[in-house]
Amino acid sequence: MVPVSFDLPVAVVTGGNRGVGREVCRQLALLGFGVVLGSRDLRKGEIAAKELDPEGNRIVACQLEVDNSISVAAMADWVKERFGRTDVLVNNASTMYDRWATASNAELGTVAEAIDVNLFGPWRVIHALLPMLRSSSRPRIVNVSSEGGSISAMTGLPGLARQRGPSAGPVPGSGRGQRDLGRDHPQRRPYRYLYPRRPALPLVAPGL
Ligand SMILES: NC(=O)c1ccc[n+]([C@@H]2O[C@H](COP(=O)([O-])OP(=O)(O)OC[C@H]3O[C@@H](n4cnc5c(N)ncnc54)[C@H](OP(=O)(O)O)[C@@H]3O)[C@@H](O)[C@H]2O)c1
Repeated sequence: MVPVSFDLPVAVVTGGNRGVGREVCRQLALLGFGVVLGSRDLRKGEIAAKELDPEGNRIVACQLEVDNSISVAAMADWVKERFGRTDVLVNNASTMYDRWATASNAELGTVAEAIDVNLFGPWRVIHALLPMLRSSSRPRIVNVSSEGGSISAMTGLPGLARQRGPSAGPVPGSGRGQRDLGRDHPQRRPYRYLYPRRPALPLVAPGL
């Protein structure tokens, strides 16, 4: 039986039905969060939630297609109505894109689709959840990034941050990268906009 209220800090994870997102859901539940497992196919999300949390005390699935504004708004309304809060957002969902293509031969429909999911997707979800995140005493947004999106890796130019840890690599948007990518523009530095005194928007690039 899925709880009506978690009575716990609430984390929303996009693309939580498989891969990295599924594991993030599992670990957040272990850390004491109530987890909203976003899945564009609700049935897949429900199966994953049941496998991860058979009792249904900590993890609940919610339909969420990040490239669909209606779905994103419905998710935010559902979370607000059901739990009344969001403390953490993990923007994990992503789609593969034509890494083999170059600017001169790329199929622009494919490029547009990838941008809609991988760039505007997280942005949409941030917008939808921002009012609740702002009400949290410790809001966090984690954008799951990739070395595939590293500007320095693509261009060979220096200037983006290096991740600490075993899978060290340039991570756009983290540390120095955030400073390089824009100064105090709310759209480029949403963590400043969200929570002026504390950086609350780490980017992570899992290397599996
Ligand atoms: N795996 C790695 O080695 C690696 C390395 C670097 C970065 N990353 C990053 O880590 C994140 C997760 O990677 P992963 O390997 O776990 O990916 P994955 O196995 O391909 O899973 C992607 C997830 O995103 C969901 N998704 C795709 N399009 C969506 C949409 N329009 N709306 C909502 N959900 C959507 C998928 O749902 P469906 O099941 O319905 O398709 C799935 O749940 C990604 O951001 C990726 O860039 C991964």
